[in-house]
Amino acid sequence: MKKKFRALTMNEFIVQQQNAFPYATGDLSRLLTHIVIAARIVNREVSMAGLADILGETGKENIQGEQVKKLDDFANEQFKSVLGSSIEVCGLATEEEKDLVSFESDLSKEGKYIVCMDPLDGSSNIDVNVSIGTVFSIYRRISEIGTSSVLEDFLQPGTDQVAAGYVLYGSSTMLVYTTGLGVTGFTYDPSIGEFFLSHRDIRTPEKGNTYSVNEGNYLEFPSGVKQYIKYCQEIDVATNRPYTSRYIGSLVSDFHRNMLKGGIYLYPQSNTYPEGKLRLTYECNPIAFLAEQSGGMATDGMGRRILEIQPESIHQRVPFVVGSTQMVQLLEKFMHINS
Ligand code: AHG
Ligand code: MN
Ligand code: MN
Repeated sequence: MKKKFRALTMNEFIVQQQNAFPYATGDLSRLLTHIVIAARIVNREVSMAGLADILGETGKENIQGEQVKKLDDFANEQFKSVLGSSIEVCGLATEEEKDLVSFESDLSKEGKYIVCMDPLDGSSNIDVNVSIGTVFSIYRRISEIGTSSVLEDFLQPGTDQVAAGYVLYGSSTMLVYTTGLGVTGFTYDPSIGEFFLSHRDIRTPEKGNTYSVNEGNYLEFPSGVKQYIKYCQEIDVATNRPYTSRYIGSLVSDFHRNMLKGGIYLYPQSNTYPEGKLRLTYECNPIAFLAEQSGGMATDGMGRRILEIQPESIHQRVPFVVGSTQMVQLLEKFMHINS
């Protein structure tokens, strides 16, 4: 007989968490539920992409000089529109907009929070039906409530994040987030349009046997990274090597797998990307917050904790190493010896 269980929706869970804080106003809870609404719309479009004439390029380039796909554009517009009418948010920074987007209505200016986000992560996977994601990061504004948001609101170090998370449009759609009280995962039931609690208090293993890196760039990597990759490939039964190589090319999916199973993800500096490829404010910081909250670690491979880096611009890139603590520490050791 099928086991009966009382399914908890994400909204119920958020309210329960909020009730644990007697002084909480509910603003953050409402903001999270607005992100869920936009995610549901994007999810509908992603799952219908092949039918909805929404595959392919828009013909535009974004600030990074990358081709903007129709779904990148669609996701960006959805989140902008939902957050723009959410009175908790006064501004938004996204991968697809060169400058920050300040929401100028009187109600929006009263919003306490700003959001940094990558509306659609893993663009190269869109047209071939491989998992993609949305990554978001929420900060309390620094500027005065009632005014327009300013750049400084978006250039806070990751340690100041109030909440962060991602939506993974995979074989099932999941929303995973943290408010600094551990990491919780919800799985979408498309038949009724709700996210249900499925992963309580996610903990990442101290070490794993998966490494994720675009090895096509191997020759361009720093020697510490090259040697670490060789270490992963060596045969040693005692340490469970060789490790398994898994690289989807969507940070959200690669991170999600490694967080659950144990592993390490690397996007180091290379000749093509001397500062690394991934963006600090809307890719690395939210993922680093989740990594740490699940017991893992995130650095730039050169001894700097990602969350402590002071951002200087919205689209700043940074080398990124994230995953199981012992694996990240060992990579750091290889980098140090070779510097
Ligand atoms: P985006 O699609 O938002 O531009 O980000 C893609 C990122 C990240 O998701 C992924 O891990 C990485 O770029 C893949 O890059 P390579 O194709 O260079 O490996
Ligand atoms: Mn991305
Ligand atoms: Mn993107």
